[in-house]
Amino acid sequence: MSRVAIFASGSGSNFQALVDAVEAGRLDAQLSLLVCDQPSARVARRANDHHVPCFAFSAKDYESKEAFEQEILKKLQESEIDWIILAGYMRLIGPTLLAAYGGRIVNIHPSLLPSFPGKDAVGQAIEAGVKVTGVTIHYVDAGMDTGPIIAQEAVAVSEDDTRESLQKKIQLVEHRLYVDTVKSLLHSEVKS
Ligand code: GRF
Repeated sequence: MSRVAIFASGSGSNFQALVDAVEAGRLDAQLSLLVCDQPSARVARRANDHHVPCFAFSAKDYESKEAFEQEILKKLQESEIDWIILAGYMRLIGPTLLAAYGGRIVNIHPSLLPSFPGKDAVGQAIEAGVKVTGVTIHYVDAGMDTGPIIAQEAVAVSEDDTRESLQKKIQLVEHRLYVDTVKSLLHSEVKS
């Protein structure tokens, strides 16, 4: 069974969707590690509740990105991790982790990339007045939300949508699409 590490910084609703799928037998994976750069984030409590080991760190305790990524790499290797799943990890992945796990790191983003990369993709979509936005799951490269696309699903924007209501619709799609996509990636072991 593939061993997976989830990287997250925030609330962790996607983390929860993946944990729920594993616990319900809908996803055949070992969620072996949460890597979290915000020790007080809700996702760290979720990991604790579901007995997923957590490596929580503060970037300010390290002298460089390379230094904390070396530490993360050590944890990944100790846990024999096969895949890295980013779920709201608010940092670019650096050369240390890309060299070790390139082609086995995926991310989820709340827009139809290449539209609205970076922060607040939902707010960007509202601001732009688009009628359709969505969700993208992609391999991670050195850029900001630029790697090869694996899966996408559209979400309609209604006239009366606010940032909050649109975010809710998008997250519902995210939770289903991430579980399904991770499942097929682990099954096929396809690399980018
Ligand atoms: C998601 O919308 C994801 O697309 C983005 O960060 C958000 C994380 O949300 N990369 P959550 O912490 O999983 O609720």
